[in-house]
Amino acid sequence: MSSLSNRQIKLGARPVGLPTPSCWEPVTGPARDPEVGEVLVKVLYLSLDPAMRGWMSDARSYIPPVKLGDPMRAGGIGVVVTSNDPALAPGDYVYGWLNAQEYATLKAASLTKLDPAVTPLTTYLNVLGSPGMTAYFGLLEVGRPKSGETVVVSGAAGAVGMTVGQIAKIKDCRVVGIAGGPDKCRRLTEELGFDAAIDYKAGGLNAALREHCPKGIDVYFDNVGGDTLDACLARLAMHARVVICGAISQYNATTAVAGPKNYLSLLVNRASMQGMLVFDYADRYPEAARVMGGWLAAGKLKGREHVVKGSIADFPDTLLMLFKGENLGKLILHIADA
Ligand SMILES: NC(=O)c1ccc[n+]([C@@H]2O[C@H](COP(=O)([O-])OP(=O)(O)OC[C@H]3O[C@@H](n4cnc5c(N)ncnc54)[C@H](OP(=O)(O)O)[C@@H]3O)[C@@H](O)[C@H]2O)c1
Repeated sequence: MSSLSNRQIKLGARPVGLPTPSCWEPVTGPARDPEVGEVLVKVLYLSLDPAMRGWMSDARSYIPPVKLGDPMRAGGIGVVVTSNDPALAPGDYVYGWLNAQEYATLKAASLTKLDPAVTPLTTYLNVLGSPGMTAYFGLLEVGRPKSGETVVVSGAAGAVGMTVGQIAKIKDCRVVGIAGGPDKCRRLTEELGFDAAIDYKAGGLNAALREHCPKGIDVYFDNVGGDTLDACLARLAMHARVVICGAISQYNATTAVAGPKNYLSLLVNRASMQGMLVFDYADRYPEAARVMGGWLAAGKLKGREHVVKGSIADFPDTLLMLFKGENLGKLILHIADA
């Protein structure tokens, strides 16, 4: 065992509703030395994702649940401390499933080497990482927006949503974002080029959609589900495409998930509704990263990271920020410097 002390946040119990402190088990022990083919990585940044709530439950999903007693699953960026594989050297920056802990010992082949000279490291957790890939493939492959069409995105001030809206603008669409609070809405229109933004917390969502989408919604990119999905279904244009990316309003539900009441709008408008999972596009990530890297460099696409500086002990509270709407852009926990 290494002489390095490793604090971990393990899953102690499965949550009912919002995760509470009793779900977590902070544990300290020695970091494990790398075996042949492995590296020891110091964790610098951890990604906080709404999907984590699903991974904490034992319901059947697209990925196995985190086992009780295991460190919480989390993507992250770190720096190699010790290497037992020729592919990586101490000092290399890497991305992978580092999990909620200070040090990760894992196979070198499971990690992606990053170049910090190309872009700030946190971009690899945002536009050039999973949220960016989700936005790119969800919008372009499933939503298939055409120039001049109206695209509505919910969760618009979050990591996936703000990239969806900006890509839709690049594709010459009219873009309407739905987000919580006047400040988030103002930033979408003033800083990120959205044509309009609707504060769903202010009430009157149906009227606001009528006002801002006079010709109906051609593409609805759904990150939240629930009442917002229903309101958008009621406003679909003919041949609209609804992208089911996520349903954060339902992730902590303790009763049955609220299904869409207005689904007959799909029939009336010959519309379609399709789920998407980013992992299905893994072999095309390099293509998306090339295109979006170009847009970033050209100033056509802006990445916003909401970085919380703290320690691994802050992981549980930082995760809750997603469900309280306290993040603007991609939520990241920064636990150490290289
Ligand atoms: N399908 C895939 O492959 C895939 C991949 C990545 C992410 N996702 C999904 O994409 C969605 C966005 O993920 P993200 O990582 O970009 O998170 P995010 O949008 O950066 O953060 C979550 C945001 O959700 C909003 N929210 C929280 N509770 C809400 C509620 N009850 N009703 C409406 N909005 C609520 C909050 O914004 P407000 O202040 O606006 O309420 C919060 O800031 C999630 O549903 C996630 O599960 C799917």
